[in-house]
Amino acid sequence: MKLLFLNGPNLNMLGIREPGIYGRQTYQDLEKYIRDFCGELGIACEILQSNHEGALVDAIQSAYGRMDGIVINPAAYTHTSVALLDALKAVGLLVHLSDVSAREDFRQISYVRLACRRTFAGHGFQGYRMAAEALLAEKNGASEGEKE
Ligand code: DQA
Repeated sequence: MKLLFLNGPNLNMLGIREPGIYGRQTYQDLEKYIRDFCGELGIACEILQSNHEGALVDAIQSAYGRMDGIVINPAAYTHTSVALLDALKAVGLLVHLSDVSAREDFRQISYVRLACRRTFAGHGFQGYRMAAEALLAEKNGASEGEKE
């Protein structure tokens, strides 16, 4: 099982950026968290963060035929990017650290969600693990668990 974890703009500023919403842990902490649980679950992972929409599209395209799934937190591009929606074409699982449904009106628009089979929002770092476990369960032929 090989998964690509993609993180969008400003997530490299975790720990500094709005700690009241995103917490005090840094992006390096998030990468370590992902590598640790992937090791535990026997998942091979690639992790990428970019502030650039095109770089995220390139990474999604390069995953085709190479990776078994994509776990993406597109950050602000969630709410604006038709390019990411088109690139994902229903292969990804969407993660948000915060509960976007309880935030500003503009965050209620999610283009990327349309191309993602499931969304995990408001679980902090744990959302990434929940998404990876869901993909692993799908790969192992388990029936779909509850939707979030
Ligand atoms: C976010 C939510 C987005 O609305 C915001 O622009 C982000 C982070 C989250 O993880 O909660 O940058 O994707």
